[in-house]
Amino acid sequence: MDPKDKVAIITGAASGIGLATARLLASHGARIVVADVDADGGAKAAQEIEAQGGQARFVRIDVTQDEELQRMLEFAVAQFGRVDIVHNNAGIGEGGNLFEPGWDGWERTLAIDLTAVIRATRLEVQHLRRQGGGGVIINTASMGGMVPMPASPVYAASKAGAIHFTRSLAYLANEGIRVNVICPTFTDTPLVRQAGEAAIELMKQEVGGILAPEQVAEGVLELVRDDSRAGAVMRVTVRKGIDYTFEPR
Ligand code: NAI
Repeated sequence: MDPKDKVAIITGAASGIGLATARLLASHGARIVVADVDADGGAKAAQEIEAQGGQARFVRIDVTQDEELQRMLEFAVAQFGRVDIVHNNAGIGEGGNLFEPGWDGWERTLAIDLTAVIRATRLEVQHLRRQGGGGVIINTASMGGMVPMPASPVYAASKAGAIHFTRSLAYLANEGIRVNVICPTFTDTPLVRQAGEAAIELMKQEVGGILAPEQVAEGVLELVRDDSRAGAVMRVTVRKGIDYTFEPR
């Protein structure tokens, strides 16, 4: 799909990978809905894109709520008339120790990094079916969904879930809806920065460096453009750049 004049919703677009993707798709002529729980960051992102000559609107939503995801889709239609592309990208790090008594943050990790991706995809497919004409959904998982992450086991499980959920939806291509997943290694965003410099140095050693969010955005653009991809698992790594794994059956 050529992104020019298409309507693209990007969740988590106030920051990091989502923001880089919003900027890139806007520069290719897409009309952007920035959807994020961060009101200041989201409004700023949309303003910045407009100041650069693009078209963007901000809607504040929490991706863990069905009603808010539905409102996001309705907002896109009210502002721009339709929905063509959705990047389900909002996510959080695990941010705690699973085995610490009383710590229940793992449930929030699962709610945002996996359940919300399923919630969103469900509603988006329903919307695209009603609208007609197909569409593209891209979920953000992580290389952490393919390799063990001892410090973030629930994050790893969530991302593995998002990968296999997406792979299982390849058949929707039969009705013109392509659902794909992108899996970056460590990327230089606030999510990773909160781990601290020492942890980032270790990450760099583990995977050979740290990606710029713009490199991940290039992967999203490829998944929008390449009409042959459905149920595809794209990796973005420092060592190999963009490639694909888990061939479809
Ligand atoms: P980030 O922290 O820069 O951006 C995440 C955005 O999601 C923020 O703007 C935040 O406000 C938003 N968000 C969080 N919870 C939300 C909710 N409940 N509802 C709506 N918006 C919400 O992080 P980054 O790194 O750009 O992450 C984007 C995605 O990329 C996440 O799914 C993350 O797991 C994934 N990822 C990140 C990697 C990294 O190393 N930074 C590597 C691989 C995947």
